[in-house]
Amino acid sequence: MRARSADRADAVSIAAIYNEGIEDRLATFETRPRTVADIERWFDDALPIVVVDDDASRVVGWAAAHPYRPDREAYAGIAEFSVYVARAARGRGAGRLAVEALAQEAEARGIWKLVSRIFPENVASLALCRSSRVREVGVYRRHGRRDGEWRDCVTVERLLGEALAD
Ligand SMILES: CC(C)(COP(=O)(O)OP(=O)(O)OC[C@H]1O[C@@H](n2cnc3c(N)ncnc32)[C@H](O)[C@@H]1OP(=O)(O)O)[C@@H](O)C(=O)NCCC(=O)NCCS
Repeated sequence: MRARSADRADAVSIAAIYNEGIEDRLATFETRPRTVADIERWFDDALPIVVVDDDASRVVGWAAAHPYRPDREAYAGIAEFSVYVARAARGRGAGRLAVEALAQEAEARGIWKLVSRIFPENVASLALCRSSRVREVGVYRRHGRRDGEWRDCVTVERLLGEALAD
């Protein structure tokens, strides 16, 4: 497997993998399947998006940075991130590869922090964070409802570049 920068031609694969995660009901509050056009719009944000190809050059995973409070100048170096791996390819290192590649691209662009939120029962995602230098910050209680039920969220962050200096 190898990670690389994504381009708009990858939107079909990214949407398919994202929709598997949405169907699983373990990764996100989102329940609406994403269209290819939804994903293509991410590229307008000009934030890093990476994909992981398997040995047959099929996209098996992706990680993307998304805007975080774009109305606040003080947060200009913070981005949200998400990472999804195709069901059939999970547990083989693609997620870790994607997060590392995303962190490298983000750091190179001057982003100093990646943040996200994870459902406490998403053990795979929490394990990926632990092995990817993504720190658990705390827990938002009752952060939203998924399928009508209140859900907590573990908040996580990974510092990058100049933010790592003491
Ligand atoms: C979470 C997800 C991206 C992880 O990607 P992955 O490719 O399966 O994970 P990796 O193989 O890179 O594993 C990374 C680490 O997590 C651990 N891990 C992965 N899946 C695990 C599981 N189900 N239970 C426990 N640990 C697990 C691995 O052992 C590895 O740890 P190590 O580096 O100490 O050996 C993937 O499971 C997925 O796409 N899930 C659905 C979408 C989702 O939940 N995304 C996150 C939204 S917040």
